[in-house]
Amino acid sequence: MKITAQQEQKFYDDFYAQHLKFPDQALRCDRAHMLGYLADPAHPLYERKHLYRGALQRLLALPLKGCAVLDYGCGTGDWGVLLATEGARVTLLDLSPVAIKVGLRRAEVNNVADRVRGVACDASDLRCFADAEFDLIYASAALHHTLKYPHAVEELVRVLKPGGKLILAETYGNNRLLNLARRLRWRLSREPAEQGEDILLSAREINLLRPHFRHIEVAPLNLLAMAKRLFRGRFTHAWVRKFVGALEAVDAVLLRLFPFLRRYCGEVIIVAEK
Ligand SMILES: C[S@@+](CC[C@H](N)C(=O)[O-])C[C@H]1O[C@@H](n2cnc3c(N)ncnc32)[C@H](O)[C@@H]1O
Repeated sequence: MKITAQQEQKFYDDFYAQHLKFPDQALRCDRAHMLGYLADPAHPLYERKHLYRGALQRLLALPLKGCAVLDYGCGTGDWGVLLATEGARVTLLDLSPVAIKVGLRRAEVNNVADRVRGVACDASDLRCFADAEFDLIYASAALHHTLKYPHAVEELVRVLKPGGKLILAETYGNNRLLNLARRLRWRLSREPAEQGEDILLSAREINLLRPHFRHIEVAPLNLLAMAKRLFRGRFTHAWVRKFVGALEAVDAVLLRLFPFLRRYCGEVIIVAEK
């Protein structure tokens, strides 16, 4: 089913409304808190700890002080606010005004409101931003949502400075078996189409970026360890962590011995330089 931007916005407005009631403590998001969340099996970010640690490592390696950053499809703004706590000047961008409201409250809670602004708009029309306005664009699990809207890639490229970086933390969709399992899970759990998960970022979508960038690093991760998805919400059990840890160890060997398997991994970090 094809969805409209209005339907997707409504879905995310409703979804994020619960965050408006979160206590300040739950909105803390600097480097130390993020590392804590990624190490806490009870936290929702734990499931993607390798993906997000990899993204964090690449982001923190950049000179962030004074850097103009766009947190693209920011959701509740945790990544953008984290970058602001590192000295960046951050714009939170999302289709959902509720997401922006939560993100701006998060900025206040983390004492960086003076370095964070929020813009609720469709990423396929970024006329509110000048050409080459941003040094860095970060998108966590967001580009695969915006790609279905016409001109989204062109707009993203337009607002990035020449020499600027695009960093993506995404699901990777080259593995047909994994995609089948994903779609089956979505059906069984009756996840609504308005959630906008129909496109998975695969080599095909990465190829759409290639003409616009001088260099693209593609770093896939998690092959067999994608079985972790079966244990969502159960990482507090030691046996689950051991089992997933064993799969990660097997992945490390497999991917070293057979590098072509990397394209079948389930998650990917992309660093592109314009
Ligand atoms: C899976 S969420 C990811 C949120 C956040 N980056 C994170 O990592 O938690 C996808 C986000 O993309 C946003 N989004 C979807 N389509 C969009 C569009 N056309 N323009 C801007 N944001 C969009 C949604 O509102 C949602 O917040």
